[in-house]
Amino acid sequence: MGKTLVIASGKGGTGKTMFAANLGATMAKRGHKVVLVDMDTGLRNLDLYLGLENNVVYDVSDVLNGVCRIKQALIKDKSFPGLFFMAASPRPDDGEITPLHVKVLCDKLKKIFDYVIIDAPAGLDDGLAIALGGADKVILMITPEFASIRDSETVSMTLRDQNITDVRYILNKVNTRLMKAGLAPSLRDFPREITEKIIGLIQEDENIHISTNMGVPIVFMEGTYISKNFDNIAKRIEAL
Ligand SMILES: Nc1ncnc2c1ncn2[C@@H]1O[C@H](COP(=O)(O)OP(=O)(O)OP(=O)(O)O)[C@@H](O)[C@H]1O
Ligand SMILES: [Mg+2]
Repeated sequence: MGKTLVIASGKGGTGKTMFAANLGATMAKRGHKVVLVDMDTGLRNLDLYLGLENNVVYDVSDVLNGVCRIKQALIKDKSFPGLFFMAASPRPDDGEITPLHVKVLCDKLKKIFDYVIIDAPAGLDDGLAIALGGADKVILMITPEFASIRDSETVSMTLRDQNITDVRYILNKVNTRLMKAGLAPSLRDFPREITEKIIGLIQEDENIHISTNMGVPIVFMEGTYISKNFDNIAKRIEAL
C-alpha cells in the first residue's frame, strides 16, 4: 500500500509545483512507482512543469465525476519511467468534489502506486481541504520571507484542527547572500516548531526557474548539486 503526500503552502508561489514535479521524478528514479496529481483546480501548472500539457485528455474531475476510469486519466511521463501524472481540471471547482471523493481516489491510487503526490492550491480555503482529503503526510513549502512564515503557521493550525499532525517543511528559494546580509529571515528567525521539522533546503537558482519554463524537471540532469539534494530529500521522505 502506497502513501499520499500533499504538497501545500499558505503563501502562493513558494515552489509547491516545482517541488512536486522534482520529488516525483526523483522518487521514480529511485525505483518507486509514482503518480503526481494536480489538485490546483482552475490554476493548474503541473502539466506545464512536466511538459505534458499536450497529452491531457481526461483530468481528476473527469475521474471523480465518473466520465472516465482512473487508468484513462493516468498519463505516463516521457522522461522518467515509473512516473505518471493526473491533470487538474482547467475549470474552477463547482463544489461537486469533496474531501471524501479525493480520499477514495487516493485509496485506489495507493493500491497501484508507492507514492501519490498531490500538488495542492495555495491558501486555506476549500481547495486545500479537498486536496488534503486523502493525506497521509503533508509537506509545507516555505520561503525565507516573513509573510511565508506567518502564512505557514496559519496553515499548520488549520491542519491541526483537521487532526493532520504528520507535517514536514521544505525551505525553498534559499538565498544565502540575502540571509547573511540580514535582508531575508535566516533560520534563527523561524519558529522552532518549523525548524525542527525541516527536511530539506533548496537554493534559489535560476536553473530551477528555467527548468519549470522548459517543462523538464531539473533533476533530469544527473549529478548536479540540485539532483543530489533532491535525492537526499527523497531518502528522508522514504524514512518518514
Ligand atoms: N528554488 C527556486 N529557485 C528559483 N526559482 C524557483 C525556485 N522554486 C520555484 N521557483 C520559481 O518560482 C515560481 C513559483 O514556483 P511554483 O509554481 O512551483 O510555486 P507554487 O507554490 O506552485 O505557486 P502557486 O501557489 O501559484 O501554485 C516559478 O516560476 C518557479 O520556476
Ligand atoms: Mg503551484
